[in-house]
Amino acid sequence: MSDIKAELTATASAMVAKGKGILAIDESFPSIKKRFDGIGIESNEENRRAYREILIDNPGAADYISGMILFDETIRQATKAGETFPAALKRQGILTGIKVDAGTSDLAGHPGEKVTDGLDGLRKRLTEYRTLGARFAKWRAVITIGAGIPTSACIEANMHALARYAGLCQEVGLVPMVEPEVLMDADNTIDTCYTVTRTTLHTLFDMLDRQDVRCEHTILKVNMVVPGKLCAQQASVSDVAAQTVRCLLDSVPASIPGVVFLSGGQSAELATAHLNAMNAGWKNLPWPLSFSYGRALQAPCLKAWGGKPENTAAAKARLLHREKCNGLASLGQYKPEMEKAA
Ligand code: 13P
Repeated sequence: MSDIKAELTATASAMVAKGKGILAIDESFPSIKKRFDGIGIESNEENRRAYREILIDNPGAADYISGMILFDETIRQATKAGETFPAALKRQGILTGIKVDAGTSDLAGHPGEKVTDGLDGLRKRLTEYRTLGARFAKWRAVITIGAGIPTSACIEANMHALARYAGLCQEVGLVPMVEPEVLMDADNTIDTCYTVTRTTLHTLFDMLDRQDVRCEHTILKVNMVVPGKLCAQQASVSDVAAQTVRCLLDSVPASIPGVVFLSGGQSAELATAHLNAMNAGWKNLPWPLSFSYGRALQAPCLKAWGGKPENTAAAKARLLHREKCNGLASLGQYKPEMEKAA
């Protein structure tokens, strides 16, 4: 095997190592501003750096966290003591990941639908990120459910872009994390989410195959199968687990080294409970199921911090607690009582 393939194999398996998952801290400037607005602090470079240092440099995290996904600004920043963030992660045995898409634009001719930008110049950017210490990358495609949508035009355009991105990543030695996210903001039923997620995943793996992207060097990041937030008929934890596992078994090749979930607006505790139910209920799946949460890991930490340096220790403790709960959930060993002890 070539060196690059051997390294991709090692990186992909480290990303989904037993009992570990990924922390997503790759919010774009508008997204981090929204989070900071929620705690009443200004989104400036130093506040973003100080907050990301809390997330990145937290002793004990490496027991549950295999990698973190950074934003372009963050991968170039450093701790107060002057250690670059990728170096701080490496010291702890955590892989550096990087978000490389350029966000979404309206899809021409398809009102209400989005397509992800960022392919132009991507090879050059990926090469630089690797030099800066990145070992995996992320690209998010957004699929919106609504009246008459998603269209096949939207699904195909987005999955094609994911395949182009993934091919470039593998060429430069970064493991592509391919992220099709079916949004959970509408009033659709869980059955609609199932159908749309299934079609999206079938299209994704067809596109990956047609672009000669190797599944064994690709990590899937995907939404769970849930009803829309505005749906009157919400689903139980066991229904979400069963529908999600059924959908993955029906769509995801066994050669994928691992599947990780985004939290997508689920509460921190529910996202953990869903992951745990899947891992407690299904022991012989073809791939490990773990987490790559942003909000569901960060929200309690962000609130505890509140922008005040004196709250740093409390914020780090909240984060470590969620990381531990989700690490256990990836083994099917999480218990809701663990929340009370915290
Ligand atoms: P959430 O878990 O907050 O959905 O974020 C994960 C992510 O990285 C979305 O791209």
